[in-house]
Amino acid sequence: MSNSETKQPVSRLFPEVESFAKKALKYKSKYSFYFEEVEQQEKCHITIANQNKLNFCTYSYLGLINHPGIINGALKALIKYGCGTHGVRLLGGNLSIYAELENALAKFCQRESAMVLSSGFLTNQTVIRALVRPGDVIYCEARNHASIIDGCKLASAEVKTFKHSNIEALEKSLQAENDVRRKLIIADAVFSMDGDILDLPAYLKLRDSVNNTYLMVDEAHSIGVLGENGKGIEEHFNISPEQGIDIKMGTLSKAIPGNGGYIAGNKALIEYLRFHVRGYIFTAALAPTTAGASLAALKVIEDEGKQRIEKLWRNVKHLRLRLAEHGIATTASRSPITGVLIGDEELAFEIAQRCFDQDLFVMPVAYPAVPRRSERIRLNVHCDHTLEQIDIAVTILSDVMQGVLGHKKAS
Ligand SMILES: Cc1ncc(COP(=O)(O)O)c(C=O)c1O
Repeated sequence: MSNSETKQPVSRLFPEVESFAKKALKYKSKYSFYFEEVEQQEKCHITIANQNKLNFCTYSYLGLINHPGIINGALKALIKYGCGTHGVRLLGGNLSIYAELENALAKFCQRESAMVLSSGFLTNQTVIRALVRPGDVIYCEARNHASIIDGCKLASAEVKTFKHSNIEALEKSLQAENDVRRKLIIADAVFSMDGDILDLPAYLKLRDSVNNTYLMVDEAHSIGVLGENGKGIEEHFNISPEQGIDIKMGTLSKAIPGNGGYIAGNKALIEYLRFHVRGYIFTAALAPTTAGASLAALKVIEDEGKQRIEKLWRNVKHLRLRLAEHGIATTASRSPITGVLIGDEELAFEIAQRCFDQDLFVMPVAYPAVPRRSERIRLNVHCDHTLEQIDIAVTILSDVMQGVLGHKKAS
């Protein structure tokens, strides 16, 4: 018998793989909305299996995915530079469009300098490690994005996690450590699963009151969204850049439609990071088309952002009002992200499926993205939703929830 005939399939060696495959199969056959291929994406609708669905599962807060000026920016970069680069930035892949984008980002973020990496996840995952040394302590908000959690795990400093939205816990923890070299606090500006906003003024006050402490904030859901010009959380709280965040992180994959991540900060810091961040040194730069799209998007936000942001916040308020009128319990959201609390994975999936059957596309969010028993349906609005579309979505969701949860109670 040959080796290949006796060999076990790899999944047999990993029981968790087999059991997950069974669960995935069950979910796949039960929930037709899940992980389906999206054939087309327009303003407020997506097409799945030839059917149009009203989309409330979006990060494109400013509705820029199909913006002609941004598509043109991507095309121009494609024609000028081609599809890729001749390797990593430090070894021949340093196209001039990256410097253009970095300058535009630095200006937008009101910082001296900026650097871009090929994903937001990679940015958090690899920048944090370069910012600390053994003897330093990182203070990590408990609900920070997974990329920050992973970035902390890779760092050589000690990591202390403090409770979500609990500045007193952070303060206690900071003050308990006297002989620490440097203290780095890291938090999301907008928490991606709950939609609440970081109390930045309180964080800055605390940073300024404790020696050798600095603050890094992830603005993935804040850039383009918070502040009347979309400049982010500092503009939202009317804080000047001089008094603001030390290390600004953000993504090019949400309000800015593409992929990539960035760090904005002082010039010396960015220069240092260019030669110490492994996710910058050892991986290919983002595609020139993405850089072209992001560059054009920043211009669009400067030119049209104000009106789009106004409409976005009108929609945020309207959604919140309608959910409250229907007596639907939500997370403590203050942003375009709203979690409708269900508290059970299968029920959340069932509700999402029934909404899908009525042409409303919403997603369930389950562990490990959120703690167990806080499973939810997430509704994200963007500026192009009409008030009527929001009304339709809430009515469908409310009816479905009544059907599913009422039925569950009775059984
Ligand atoms: C808060 C936050 N940070 C970072 C990321 C990672 O960004 P990207 O998807 O651009 O890699 C995300 C992704 O959703 C996020 O929500």
